[in-house]
Amino acid sequence: MNQTTAAVKEITCIADGVYSMWFRTEIAKEAKPGQFVMVNPRSEAHLLGRPISICEIDADRSLLRLVFRVVGYGTDELASSKTGDSFTILGPLGNGFDVSKAEKDSNVVLMGGGIGAPPILGLACALKAAGVQKITAVLGYRSREAGIFLKDEFENVADVVITTDDGSEGLKGNVVEALRAKDIAADIIYSCGPMPMLRAIKGFAEEKGIPAYISLEERMACGVGACLGCVVKTKDKDEHSHVNNTRICTEGPVFEAQEVDI
Ligand SMILES: Cc1cc2nc3c(=O)[nH]c(=O)nc-3n(C[C@H](O)[C@H](O)[C@H](O)COP(=O)(O)OP(=O)(O)OC[C@H]3O[C@@H](n4cnc5c(N)ncnc54)[C@H](O)[C@@H]3O)c2cc1C
Ligand code: FES
Repeated sequence: MNQTTAAVKEITCIADGVYSMWFRTEIAKEAKPGQFVMVNPRSEAHLLGRPISICEIDADRSLLRLVFRVVGYGTDELASSKTGDSFTILGPLGNGFDVSKAEKDSNVVLMGGGIGAPPILGLACALKAAGVQKITAVLGYRSREAGIFLKDEFENVADVVITTDDGSEGLKGNVVEALRAKDIAADIIYSCGPMPMLRAIKGFAEEKGIPAYISLEERMACGVGACLGCVVKTKDKDEHSHVNNTRICTEGPVFEAQEVDI
């Protein structure tokens, strides 16, 4: 983990309020899909870093891609930046997705909901590079009007199924409904998205008896395990603290769904 100054190489608006940003940083050399970075706002009035998942990694060129939705001060400041601006960032943080859990000939299903889709794209690229043959990405969005971002990039590495809340693109409904409606074979699931979606995936995985790895993107403060502001209840007791709690920022954000109480 490093704290470094990272320069903005490129920033583009890719959907309503959603931005894609490439940072030039040595953190790219250590990063893996599903990990995140803390981006510090430049204003001293805002002390806490903002956690943003790593969307894509170009280790050779020391580039990291982040895709984020503007919701408040920190993300608005990021969206307003220009090529050449610099930010202090800390990372890579968290455990990330374990690509080795997927067998090369298994049916791997990736599920991304809204702004949970970006880390799943980096994972899809890593799975493809590892030789996994059957990758299906089921991606849920609000509506066509709000933007079906990253779809083309997912199509380069996976079979893609789109759902929208209003049915304006793809199937109407959520990603788990799409999995059932299309009877998509799944030996393993990796997912990131809003909590109701992750709960539904946990239920689906339990019913089918398959492993599901979910990334929890709840609120964080320090991002490095110090404040206990991000704990989630676990099925088993932690072997050090002997309590049924774990920190999302350090032991997560990716957990096997049945291990956490969400
Ligand atoms: C591990 C992790 C990875 C993340 N990855 C991404 C990502 O790749 N792209 C992305 O757009 N966002 C991501 N987020 C969410 C992102 O961190 C927040 O949207 C951001 O910190 C908001 O900062 P802000 O200063 O713009 O808004 P603030 O002014 O801090 O908050 C504005 C509003 O957003 C709400 N909010 C803040 N954080 C969250 C959150 N984590 N979940 C839901 N609501 C929140 C607040 O309650 C408030 O209503 C991630 C969060 C975590 C914990
Ligand atoms: S955010 Fe501080 S311990 Fe996780």
